[in-house]
Amino acid sequence: MSIRNSLLALLLFAAHAYAESEHQALGRDAGELTQQPQWNLTITPDGRGLPVGHGTAAEGKKIFNHQCASCHGFDAIGGSAMPLVGEVGSLTSEYPEKTVNSYWPYATTLFDYIRRSMPPQAPYSLSSHQIYALCAYILSQDGIIEADVELNEVTLPQVTMPNRDGFSATNSH
Ligand code: HEC
Repeated sequence: MSIRNSLLALLLFAAHAYAESEHQALGRDAGELTQQPQWNLTITPDGRGLPVGHGTAAEGKKIFNHQCASCHGFDAIGGSAMPLVGEVGSLTSEYPEKTVNSYWPYATTLFDYIRRSMPPQAPYSLSSHQIYALCAYILSQDGIIEADVELNEVTLPQVTMPNRDGFSATNSH
C-alpha cells in the first residue's frame, strides 16, 4: 500500500469511527424515556399528567431531612433558601409572606416544581413516590392535609390550597 493509500484508509477509518460514536451518542432508547418522560412534564392544575405513585408525610419527612433541609431548613421553615411552609393567612396582613402553603393556588404545582427542579444539583433524581411523599410532608406541616393522608395521582388534585380563591382576573369589565 502506498503512503497515500494508507493515509486515505486511515482517514476513512477515522471518519467511520467518528460517525459511529456520533450515532451512539444520539438519543436514548424508548424504555428509558417511558420511565422518565422528561419530554412531557406538563401537569395541569386539575392533575392531568400526574404520574402514578403514592407517599405519606412520614416518608416525606425522612426524604426532606436528607435532601432538602440543608437549604430549606428542618421542618421546611427556611434556611439559606426560602421557607416552604407557614404564614398561611398572612397575605392580607401587614406582613404578607408568600410560601408554598400560604400562596400557591394548586397543590399539583408543588409536584411539578419539585420534579423539574429540586434538589437544584440533581433535578429529575426523585422518584414519583418520593415526590408525592414530599408534597404530603410539606402540605401536612400547615394542616392542609391530615398527617396520615396518602397522596397519589387521585388525591393530590383534590387538595384545596388555602389561597385557592386569592387570585382573580384583573381585566374583567
Ligand atoms: C442547594 C439548596 C437547595 C436544596 C438542597 C433544595 N432546594 Fe428547593 N429551592 C432552593 C432555592 C435556591 C429555591 C428558589 C429557586 C428560585 O426561586 O429560582 C428553591 C425553591 C424551592 C421551591 C419553590 C418555593 C417557592 O415558594 O417558590 C420548592 C417547593 C422547593 N424548593 C422544594 C425543595 C425540595 C422538596 C427539596 C428536596 C428534595 C429542595 N427544595 C432542595 C434551594 C434548594
